[in-house]
Amino acid sequence: MARRGTWKPYGQAVEVEISAAGPGGEGLGLADGARYRIHGALPGERVRARIFGRKTGWRMAALEEVLRESADRRSPRCPSFGQCGGCAWQNLAYPAQLALLEERVRALLAPWVGPHAWAPILGAEEVFHYRGKIELSFGGETGALRLGFNRRGRYWEVVDLDECHIGPPVNRQIIERVKSWASRAGLAPYRTRSGEGFLRHLVIRQGRGGGWLAALVTRSGELPDEAGLVASLSAIDPPGSLLWVCSDTLAQAVKVEESRLLLGDGRLVERLGGIEYVLGLESFFQANAEMAERLVGMVRERALAGPHGRVLDLFCGVGTIALALADACAEVVGVEAVGPAVTDAQLNADARGWRQVRFVLGEAEKYLWDEGTDLVILDPPRSGLHPRLPRRLVEHPVPRVIYVSCNPEALARDLAVLGERYAATFARCVDLFPHTPHVETVVELNRMTPDQDSLPTPGE
Ligand SMILES: C[S@@+](CC[C@H](N)C(=O)[O-])C[C@H]1O[C@@H](n2cnc3c(N)ncnc32)[C@H](O)[C@@H]1O
Repeated sequence: MARRGTWKPYGQAVEVEISAAGPGGEGLGLADGARYRIHGALPGERVRARIFGRKTGWRMAALEEVLRESADRRSPRCPSFGQCGGCAWQNLAYPAQLALLEERVRALLAPWVGPHAWAPILGAEEVFHYRGKIELSFGGETGALRLGFNRRGRYWEVVDLDECHIGPPVNRQIIERVKSWASRAGLAPYRTRSGEGFLRHLVIRQGRGGGWLAALVTRSGELPDEAGLVASLSAIDPPGSLLWVCSDTLAQAVKVEESRLLLGDGRLVERLGGIEYVLGLESFFQANAEMAERLVGMVRERALAGPHGRVLDLFCGVGTIALALADACAEVVGVEAVGPAVTDAQLNADARGWRQVRFVLGEAEKYLWDEGTDLVILDPPRSGLHPRLPRRLVEHPVPRVIYVSCNPEALARDLAVLGERYAATFARCVDLFPHTPHVETVVELNRMTPDQDSLPTPGE
């Protein structure tokens, strides 16, 4: 807590020793007994920054000068690094990024995952051009349109992007062509505050099957010069698909309310571990296919190391994990809340003639598993598990659970409940998102025997 009299008012400069990294990749440090969060500052550095606000007990300050540099500081590759909200750590050497990720996750999970369970973090081989999905926003104004990521800390402003180095090179052509079509047509960006304007987002996805799938998201209305847009995008090599999505939601996030296919077949082909996954715009797929392959391979290895006859894959998406296990199991059931993803998953299973796999449309927290289930896989979205699900796993335990998490805070919260009945026997972080503070964590949990119930948790 800030002591009375030590509060530096907005606009004042302050010198801060950075001692750690926060969940958003920002530098955390102390000065005059107060806590600071400073984006762009790295652990081990002394920086001068200007105070601009307060957030949940922290003072927010903008980096002005690095007075003592970290030996791990590097020059960022993107010219818009620092303004663009896409990456937080292009200024940090990759091994140091991995060390920060691992340190943070291990500290968060320490009460439930003991040191013996941890395998070292698995880093990415390709740290640029890995991202198979980007969601850009339109901004600026008619005649001076911008198309890019939202500005860090100012979601209503857009940083114009010609090239994003974490996405594949073909994105550049798609972005350029969509922007020049929109400028020629004199279109205005949608403004969240006033609700005026037309252009909202451009989503671009790539699959390792070779093609791309773009979705132009606008308010509902007429699409001017549709033929010009389609002709321009159809000249791109490799060929891809374009969907026009209309969305009048007040929310900032991309929401598919109504869509029309303008080019291609609207499908994307992904390949992981020799299995082909065909999917549409609304189906989730990990944004880094190379590292997703390593992650799914790790889940398969752990799954096959114990009883795995009957497997339940909750939050299954298009069946990425379920299909990777299918050849080794008597039965795999996948549960998923998004209808088009369930359809894609079933088509992918049918394409291989796998009758032992089936997919169910529904919410994971409402699904009741059979007595004979050997293994439950959990791979929830960032929000983690609905409280009902870990509670049910405690009350109706299965022999093993493998939890794949993209949010260590949510994982820690869920392990606090699961830890009543399960012990962590394996854990490993996998970096799917280089230059960002996001990380995936795989934790294998085994049901404790009754006499283990009174044992201390592994972290104690
Ligand atoms: C992190 S993704 C994992 C998908 C898949 N396991 C994979 O590796 O590609 C989470 C998935 O859970 C789905 N989902 C979100 N909430 C859900 C719920 N309450 N019940 C079932 N599925 C849900 C999402 O649509 C998404 O496909």
